[in-house]
Amino acid sequence: MITEELEVGFNVPAKVGMDEADIQTPCLILDLDALERNIKKMGDYAKDHNMRHRSHGKMHKSVDVQELQEDIGGAIGVCCQKVSEAEVFVRGGIKDVLVSNQVRDPAKIERLANLPKMGSKITVCVDDVDNVAELSAAATKAGTELNCYIEIDCGAGRCGVTTTEAVIEIAKAIDAAENIKFTGIQAYQGAMQHMDSYSDRKAKTQAAIDQVQEAIDALTEIGLKPEFISGGGTGSYYFESNSGVFNELQCGSYAFMDADYGRILDEDGNRIDAGEWENALFILTSVMSHAKPDKAIVDAGLKAQSVDSGLPFIYGRDDVEYVKCSDEHGVVSDPNGVLKINEKLKLVPGHCDPTCNVHDFYVGVRNGKVETVWPVSARGRMY
Ligand SMILES: Cc1ncc(COP(=O)(O)O)c(C=O)c1O
Repeated sequence: MITEELEVGFNVPAKVGMDEADIQTPCLILDLDALERNIKKMGDYAKDHNMRHRSHGKMHKSVDVQELQEDIGGAIGVCCQKVSEAEVFVRGGIKDVLVSNQVRDPAKIERLANLPKMGSKITVCVDDVDNVAELSAAATKAGTELNCYIEIDCGAGRCGVTTTEAVIEIAKAIDAAENIKFTGIQAYQGAMQHMDSYSDRKAKTQAAIDQVQEAIDALTEIGLKPEFISGGGTGSYYFESNSGVFNELQCGSYAFMDADYGRILDEDGNRIDAGEWENALFILTSVMSHAKPDKAIVDAGLKAQSVDSGLPFIYGRDDVEYVKCSDEHGVVSDPNGVLKINEKLKLVPGHCDPTCNVHDFYVGVRNGKVETVWPVSARGRMY
């Protein structure tokens, strides 16, 4: 591995102690006050509702952010989607890791089965009885124990079984297998999280809750009552928390927020970024050209963000608008020609998860100063 000195402007956007004004752009900045308030708020909500919160690391991909979620938000551990992401969190000292996804490739299963040796509790999702034998064989060979959540597809249409019969079959197989343990159910309704209407999200979550309750009843009848019922995201956590069925949340985006999530509506019809959660994550960008009077070009284009869920908005400004992007350019409509060369703008990304994945660092700022520079430690860990 090449190890090189960190040099501001070459391979790192800032150093601790620098003025916010001197940060090199484009880069990701975190408003640490807002981040801490979001984390504490979700932690308090979970605690008040007797829920465990297993914060989703697929969003931030950062051991440092996860530690903050555990320290001030009471999170009991992390979720991630990939074995290599789990490896980053385990190596970073996170003690309870759920791979909220299926692992089928033998090489990946072997790596997963070896992870508990580093002192962390590892849980993985299962949706196929054949996977039970694969996980059991690998854990037995490694001399470790893996915990299993059976994944129910409760509407997202991705992984997960759709019938109670399938849940029972897999639970029995796990119960009978060596070195793996049936500890819970994962039921994350991903397709509904971004629906604008609160009542639409509520109806979809209720259908999921009913589906999960049926599976729990059947499991309880055969003596295999699951300990943990896990699910819920930023657009639904209040439904799962008040269901009497779920006891573990998996929220991720609430901590940073993004433009696509921010526009969904709460029970009173307000955007969730207008009170429920604060924007804590921004792409800091600079104006690099204003050759046309009504158009400023900024240095954050596709290389600095993902636009799969739409373009970013410019935080705190309604006189200028980010309207288009290409690889290294962002086009900002500036009808009154108010922007100046080198002026900095804070963009709220359309979708935080894949945007974080294209950056090496988070620059944490408070009171105009750089307080932290955290690596996006699990960035690009896609195996
Ligand atoms: C399985 C699972 N759980 C939880 C989450 C986190 O949800 P959110 O970012 O909506 O809070 C996701 C996000 O995609 C997910 O895939």
